[in-house]
Amino acid sequence: MSVDVLTGSTAVDAAHAEELRRKLRDRDWVAAVYGLGYVGLQLAVTIAARGIKVIGVDISAERIASLQAGRSHVEDVSPERLQSHVRGGQLRFTADAAEAREADVVFIAVPTPLDQLGQPDTSYIKTAVRSAAATARPGQLIALESTTYPGTTRELVATILTESGLVVGRDLFLVYSPERINPGDRTFDTATIPKLVGGLDETSTELGMLAYSAFVGRVHKVSSPDVAEMSKLFENIFRAANIALVNEMAMLCDDLGMRAAGSSHTSLMDLAIEVNAGMPAYVVSRLARGLARRERALQGARILILGVAYKANTADTRETPALTIIELLRAKGAIVTYHDPHVPSLPAAGLKSEALDEALLRSMDAVVLVADHSLIDLALVARSSKYVLDTRAALRRAGISERHIESI
Ligand SMILES: NC(=O)c1ccc[n+]([C@@H]2O[C@H](COP(=O)([O-])OP(=O)(O)OC[C@H]3O[C@@H](n4cnc5c(N)ncnc54)[C@H](O)[C@@H]3O)[C@@H](O)[C@H]2O)c1
Repeated sequence: MSVDVLTGSTAVDAAHAEELRRKLRDRDWVAAVYGLGYVGLQLAVTIAARGIKVIGVDISAERIASLQAGRSHVEDVSPERLQSHVRGGQLRFTADAAEAREADVVFIAVPTPLDQLGQPDTSYIKTAVRSAAATARPGQLIALESTTYPGTTRELVATILTESGLVVGRDLFLVYSPERINPGDRTFDTATIPKLVGGLDETSTELGMLAYSAFVGRVHKVSSPDVAEMSKLFENIFRAANIALVNEMAMLCDDLGMRAAGSSHTSLMDLAIEVNAGMPAYVVSRLARGLARRERALQGARILILGVAYKANTADTRETPALTIIELLRAKGAIVTYHDPHVPSLPAAGLKSEALDEALLRSMDAVVLVADHSLIDLALVARSSKYVLDTRAALRRAGISERHIESI
């Protein structure tokens, strides 16, 4: 047995890393993906497309049954693409996490919804990592993809993995690589968005780089999981601050007399959240003003919301401003309906999508465009509506400008 004088590690200690390194280099490895939602399913299909065997694991038996039947719940993954990998034997689905034992690399892409304090809820990560730990075997690499706060990989994930009795950095390897997918983006996808990989130790980072390089075009190494987590947080704050800046400018341009929001004691992030959270109320106040000019009140007005997803060309309604707008409108006595080609029903508002046609538009006092899906017929909307409040300036960008159309 040879001993490295600097680290005290032995050749036996390095055996699991060497075995995994060989498999990754030879592209002779098996992946497991925990969580087959928007992120996990695209990850699974992208890896399978490289000829690597993938086991997709989800706690939802219903989701597994549907995927096994070849149905995709993710718009960016076509049923044909899904079925071809299943038929080809690269991809299979299971609700039994024990089957992931076969995997050499376990990707974790479970949800981290924001809790009431606006912090990511890590309970799904805990459950998924516990089940990965229960079935872990020496020589596996665990890669956390979920969005979370800095320190999660080192403090939470590594601690739970240690409970398996395996030593992280010797028997098991651990990296954080934040998911950066941008729903509705037709240019960049899982394989082409540059990825960051930060491991708990050097060997983990090196193995993580090898694994991700098998299916992602550009992979950047960072010095630790904490750096990768901080980069994701920075990206989210950067986006929120940019959106807040544009929102605030829109409100200032509308009413140059208003005071800029904020105080010197508020952090930039809190301020950005505050400005963005205030947008639905601003939309409703603009709508009330527009209706008043047409001698209508919100009370009793029939309002059609166009697009209830949180952004264009997606079906995702989590964090959508449309729900708050609907609640605020209802509180003022308006009668609200919606049309969204990607969202057939909105249970949180007890509504179903209405078919968009001339009769529907003519029966409305106002139409509020919230998500500018390319499937929405803007010419029809412009032609058949009495009054349109366009929160995305979609009509203006399409070259349609008429007196009864206002943009925010
Ligand atoms: N959706 C996006 O655009 C996006 C972009 C970047 C990052 N992210 C992050 O990626 C992560 C996943 O997001 P998503 O949008 O794919 O979530 P999702 O809600 O669409 O899907 C999550 C899936 O995980 C499954 N799941 C929950 N607990 C599990 C467990 N213990 N074992 C196995 N499966 C489990 C759920 O049943 C569900 O199918 C989140 O942290 C999110 O913040 C999402």
